[in-house]
Amino acid sequence: MTGGTIIVTGAESGIGAACAAAFGATGARVAVLYFADATAAGHSADAVRAAGGEAITVQAHVDDEASVDAAFATVERQWGPADVLVNSAGLNMTGVNVRDMTLAQWRRLLDTDLTGAFLTSRRFLTGRGEAGDAVILHISSIHAYAVRAGGADYCAAKGGLTNLVETLAIEEAPRRIRVNAIEPGMILTPMNARAQADETYRRTLENNIPLGRAGAPEEVADLAVFLASDKARYITGARIVIDGGLSLMQAIGA
Ligand SMILES: NC(=O)c1ccc[n+]([C@@H]2O[C@H](COP(=O)([O-])OP(=O)(O)OC[C@H]3O[C@@H](n4cnc5c(N)ncnc54)[C@H](O)[C@@H]3O)[C@@H](O)[C@H]2O)c1
Repeated sequence: MTGGTIIVTGAESGIGAACAAAFGATGARVAVLYFADATAAGHSADAVRAAGGEAITVQAHVDDEASVDAAFATVERQWGPADVLVNSAGLNMTGVNVRDMTLAQWRRLLDTDLTGAFLTSRRFLTGRGEAGDAVILHISSIHAYAVRAGGADYCAAKGGLTNLVETLAIEEAPRRIRVNAIEPGMILTPMNARAQADETYRRTLENNIPLGRAGAPEEVADLAVFLASDKARYITGARIVIDGGLSLMQAIGA
């Protein structure tokens, strides 16, 4: 997969930024979609160019239909319909138990992490019309199935994302459009700001990971590039875990 057009959401930070750079290294045209921080998006675009790709930055709020439509239209005017969508935009769990969670907290998470996946997938597909041979990747989480107290909003959103990905996979298979979910465990990004800043805290968490360390966003990006490539041509509707074994530890202590 070289020279295609890739749309990456949440590309100004963390896993999205790493994906943008990794696709840049394949020589791709990368649309860096960002939420609010245009400066950070600019840094991501610079990294794409430094890696050998082309880049533009476009603002997009994935929870807003008009914003998603406008952003994809901007990309299409520049480069035509995209070949790959990597949807990495997302919010972390609120950490609030259901009995204390407001409807606004619940909706904000679901709107971003689940409805955002619906809106970006739909606009990607309608932008391509009947053209086949494309790839959609959603950055889900091991919390799609490994639940945590205080994470009902996030776990419900990512669990729903599993069903969205699987449904899309069978709907779009006749056009050879592959749709997969990447399920990271603990990755050192701003979403894990405390673990990045506090080594003692990070090591405590890493003790639960069989491989003994948190993951790097570049490791998730390598998986995304593989899944978007022809080497992964028979993989669709899959949930690929990348967590150093963390999710295998669920029953420990039971
Ligand atoms: N870091 C981890 O440990 C981890 C683990 C599992 C899954 N994930 C998932 O990976 C994805 C990327 O997370 P990250 O770790 O890179 O975090 P991050 O906070 O660095 O990046 C998330 C990005 O999403 C953007 N965003 C938030 N709301 C948005 C909206 N409404 N519209 C558009 N963009 C929006 C943010 O501005 C941010 O740039 C998320 O979906 C997250 O749930 C992360």
